[in-house]
Amino acid sequence: MAGKRAFIFLGPPGAGKGTQAKRIAKQLGVPHLSTGDMMRDAVARGTELGKIVGPIMQAGQLVSDDLVMKMVEQRLKQPDCEAGCLFDGFPRTLPQAEGLDKILERGGFGKPVVVDLAVSDDKLLRRLTGRRTCSVGGEIYNVYDAPSKVEGVCDNDGGKLVQRADDRAEVVNQRLAAYHRQTKPLADYYRQQGVLQEVDASVSVDEVSRALGEIVKRAEGR
Ligand code: AP5
Repeated sequence: MAGKRAFIFLGPPGAGKGTQAKRIAKQLGVPHLSTGDMMRDAVARGTELGKIVGPIMQAGQLVSDDLVMKMVEQRLKQPDCEAGCLFDGFPRTLPQAEGLDKILERGGFGKPVVVDLAVSDDKLLRRLTGRRTCSVGGEIYNVYDAPSKVEGVCDNDGGKLVQRADDRAEVVNQRLAAYHRQTKPLADYYRQQGVLQEVDASVSVDEVSRALGEIVKRAEGR
């Protein structure tokens, strides 16, 4: 990858950030850093962090900026982030975005490439309530639109498919409210810096991947 670059996928819950980040991070050869995945892992392992963030996530609220920033800063010190990384679900508040700017500057990164994956709320409920995730490799499915070949079993590694605790309809509404209140304003923050690109993420997974692939190519000057 040309230069040391951070890619940021913004967008509401269910926009397809995780689905696309898995593909694009592979293409870029950089790690996919999902703050949601990191915290779900902490919850599953029963760590101190997991005990704090578990109930907050289950209620569909955002975890405090302080905890999130510490976790991200630690992760960025790992050698696999030396060439860059792709953030999924981070930053999510203005203080997180401002904190990340400082970290990137200190770390010698260029300006981030920020992509807003836009989908209207009415499509998101179906995507989220239908989502199933492999408990082994993290592959993402959807019982309505992208089912596994055998119900409940991952096509890739045979892992059990599970539903996230925060994908129940009542929690999804809280998550959408938190998104509109705290995260949506970040599009303006990055637009003002001249680094925001928007992608229509309401179309098929492959079409979204193609649009993102073009953005990545342009960012790398290919
Ligand atoms: P997090 O894990 O980040 O969840 P999220 O942002 O709510 O996003 P999702 O993972 O739900 O959706 P996605 O956009 O990745 O969609 P996906 O690709 O899976 O956060 C969870 C919680 O952790 C937060 O509520 C908060 O508590 C905490 N948290 C995390 N980060 C934080 C931070 N920085 N600060 C504070 N708190 C934080 O796709 C969804 C479904 O749609 C799948 O079934 C998929 O198959 C399907 N799909 C995807 N693309 C398409 C398409 N184009 N067409 C049709 N279906 C599609």
